[in-house]
Amino acid sequence: MSFAWWQKGVIYQIYPRSFQDTNGDGVGDLEGVRRRLDYLVWLGVDAIWLSPFYPSPMHDFGYDVADYCNVDPLFGSLAAFDALLSEAHQRGLKVILDFVPNHTSNAHPWFLASKRSQNDPKRDWYIWRDAAQDGGPPNNWVSHFGGSGWTWDEATRQYYYHAFLPEQPDLNWRNPQVRAAMHEVLRFWLRRGVDGFRVDVISHLIKDAAFRDNPVNPGWTGNGPDIIRFKQTFSSDQPEVHEVIAGLRQVVEEFEDRLLIGEIYLPLDRLVAYYGDNLKGAHLPFNFQLLDADWNAAGIARLIGNYEAALPKGAWPNWVLSNHDRPRVAARVGAEQSRVATMLLLTLRGTPTLFYGDEIGIGHVEVPPERFQDPWAKREPGLGVGRDPSRTPMQWDASVFAGFSTREPWLPLTADHETRNVSTMSGDETSILALARKLLCFRREHAAVNCGAWRLLSSDDDVLAYERRSENERVCVALNFSNTTKRWRSAMCESATIVLSTLGDRVNEPVGSDVLLRANEGVLIQ
Ligand code: GLC
Ligand code: CA
Repeated sequence: MSFAWWQKGVIYQIYPRSFQDTNGDGVGDLEGVRRRLDYLVWLGVDAIWLSPFYPSPMHDFGYDVADYCNVDPLFGSLAAFDALLSEAHQRGLKVILDFVPNHTSNAHPWFLASKRSQNDPKRDWYIWRDAAQDGGPPNNWVSHFGGSGWTWDEATRQYYYHAFLPEQPDLNWRNPQVRAAMHEVLRFWLRRGVDGFRVDVISHLIKDAAFRDNPVNPGWTGNGPDIIRFKQTFSSDQPEVHEVIAGLRQVVEEFEDRLLIGEIYLPLDRLVAYYGDNLKGAHLPFNFQLLDADWNAAGIARLIGNYEAALPKGAWPNWVLSNHDRPRVAARVGAEQSRVATMLLLTLRGTPTLFYGDEIGIGHVEVPPERFQDPWAKREPGLGVGRDPSRTPMQWDASVFAGFSTREPWLPLTADHETRNVSTMSGDETSILALARKLLCFRREHAAVNCGAWRLLSSDDDVLAYERRSENERVCVALNFSNTTKRWRSAMCESATIVLSTLGDRVNEPVGSDVLLRANEGVLIQ
């Protein structure tokens, strides 16, 4: 059996605003990513996914695209991108772009044309509807960032729909011209040599044809952000979306060995539908289940087992612990368990996506209200929905702005950045960075871990243990989810040895009929 690069490899997510600034404006840029490629090789990842760097008014930090085929001057130029791409490829790193097809910026020429008049040829490229009888919005759909999903355009006397900000009008994917134009965008980058796409809110592309009201969420308690007041029954995850995704997949398959990932926040049974008929949907529908899972061995074991069981035949799994939209793993489970989480992520079956900064254990970063950047935090204050704490700069060394920039960065650093940085931690064998690197190295070298089978061994008493097995080797992982010592009994592991502990020691320790796990410790046994 042979495996594609994206099945064996590990993806590293870079939020370009926060990786490395090279021109002293406090915001990261593509040249910064280029200069840090050697770090990524040293770390041992296989591919980078770059969050959007396209020309944008930055209302949603680049997820409001004004030109799909260029680079915003804030981040550099097409030449800077090409340099980054070719140097990444020289080092054996794949490059995945963020494709944002659900909506454009309201500054995109397509939208400017569309709002010119009700008769403009591009009118139907977006979603325009007449007002309801009372003059209000056409239905009850709300924006993910609060308020109605509909904005009135006085000049042409209709509402347009935006699942996110009013500055992010949704494209009408029922229109074949929109599909064709967006397929050309994919080809533009594929011809340039990119290795794949992560597709933003892929499940939103098609909306109910009749624009029916969404039902009220029965679980709504009167608190929390607007978006949870209703179930998204008619505004997302419509059956026709799969045909659109198959179309994207076809374009990707015009080129060799390219990858299509979909961003999908849906329950498991809905999620796995995004592999598509005959697996001709997304190669990897992002699996976000660990993002809000209760952190205990029994629960995580159940989650893994259910996911493995739900996967369509031949579908390849994937795992995500953090991203730029959700609290970081170390902020959720704490510094000690975040090591266990790192071992989990990098030893499960399926492609892991590692979020920049998680490898140095960046946890919760306090962002004072006057420094809020995220539009969601500003539109719905006081709810804790802000995403800024997950988007703080990467920390490279002990210098004043952690080697990220020569001036105050756009978001704050962690309070402990003088020690929590790549330069300091790479010299410490017991750091989480050293752990991540050893795990990445082990994963790459052992087929049992990068493409072998997964089998649960035990989830009792706060210990999650599983086996990874390929034709020629077997590796066991035992993770202590508690902060007390545990004894895990497994005959399985007799005459094997510990090859790695999350605490940085115990290498080559022989394993008897049971394994002693210290508080918050995970071990790899071979
Ligand atoms: C996705 C992105 C998020 C963005 C939203 C709208 O969820 O990950 O950052 O705000 O789509 O594009
Ligand atoms: Ca910069």
